[in-house]
Amino acid sequence: MKAIIATDEAAGTAGMTLAERPQPQAAINDVIVEVHASGFVPTELTWPSTWTDRVGRKRMPSIPGHELAGVVTALGYGTTGLSVGQRVFGLADWYRDGTLTEYVAIEARNLSPLPGDVDFTAGASLPISGLTAWQGLFQHGRLQAGQSVLVHGAAGAVGSIVTQLAREFGAYVIGTGRAADRQKSLEFGANEFVDLANDTLEEIGSVDLVFDMIGGEIQKRSAGLVRAGGTLVSVVGPVEARPADGLAIDFVVESDRAQLGEIVQRVRDGRLRTNIGNISTLDNAVAAFNSTERRTGKTIIRTHA
Ligand SMILES: NC(=O)c1ccc[n+]([C@@H]2O[C@H](COP(=O)([O-])OP(=O)(O)OC[C@H]3O[C@@H](n4cnc5c(N)ncnc54)[C@H](OP(=O)(O)O)[C@@H]3O)[C@@H](O)[C@H]2O)c1
Repeated sequence: MKAIIATDEAAGTAGMTLAERPQPQAAINDVIVEVHASGFVPTELTWPSTWTDRVGRKRMPSIPGHELAGVVTALGYGTTGLSVGQRVFGLADWYRDGTLTEYVAIEARNLSPLPGDVDFTAGASLPISGLTAWQGLFQHGRLQAGQSVLVHGAAGAVGSIVTQLAREFGAYVIGTGRAADRQKSLEFGANEFVDLANDTLEEIGSVDLVFDMIGGEIQKRSAGLVRAGGTLVSVVGPVEARPADGLAIDFVVESDRAQLGEIVQRVRDGRLRTNIGNISTLDNAVAAFNSTERRTGKTIIRTHA
């Protein structure tokens, strides 16, 4: 089967190539999924899980990509809950070969049914961004209606879903990003927008929750904006500055079938809009990931027609 492989950590996306790889085998509780569409987060090439297994042994060449939508073609020993021919979408294990390929072996529990009226491209754009937004807002951020949320990188893949979910649950959203992101962020529902290069972040006053997709100096300044009892949630690594009288947490998104169901239902009924910046093919994926053109939103790779 065809797959995108990575063999050189230092080379980043430039080191990816299209190659021929053996078909994956289904282990206990796995399914094999014929991948129709797949998403990729460029930073995953810097994560140790892309290059080793769970006990630290090298596993190269590695197939990147960890979110997918497709059709189940085979079941592993003892697998329940999904059937051959079923449309699915979900989040693949960080430490196994991923989804930028034609077929992937994946634990059934990492997948959720994809309703027939949601296309594969939309389905593949949701797992990482949707689950990260859901878990950051509701599990780690304990968002309540009426609270205010500062969303850094609000026009991006995660930020656009954070914005929409936070608004749906009754929060006031301040989005941030680059000057060019203002309109997009407001269209996704932000109540106001801070251009981080030209506006003064501190002028927004205090907030109940900071959802940080940027880190560094922006994160440090944001810790000081968290109200007493509030929370700073980071998805870009360990928190560098903590709120004086609040909580700080960094987390890595986990697979969750029920949450995937909540997210896809919102796409079906129009409460959530996807944020897809580019659609390419497996043959053109390396070029798509190395494009110098600035795009916001996910790049989705279509595999089987
Ligand atoms: N821990 C987890 O489980 C988890 C899960 C998902 C994502 N993440 C991480 O979260 C981050 C965001 O992911 P994503 O998929 O949402 O990425 P994305 O689609 O590229 O969105 C990030 C947005 O933030 C903007 N931005 C970045 N740095 C900025 C700065 N200094 N000033 C103004 N705007 C800035 C980006 O603009 P430009 O494109 O112009 O830079 C982009 O619009 C990534 O680092 C990713 O690895 C972590």
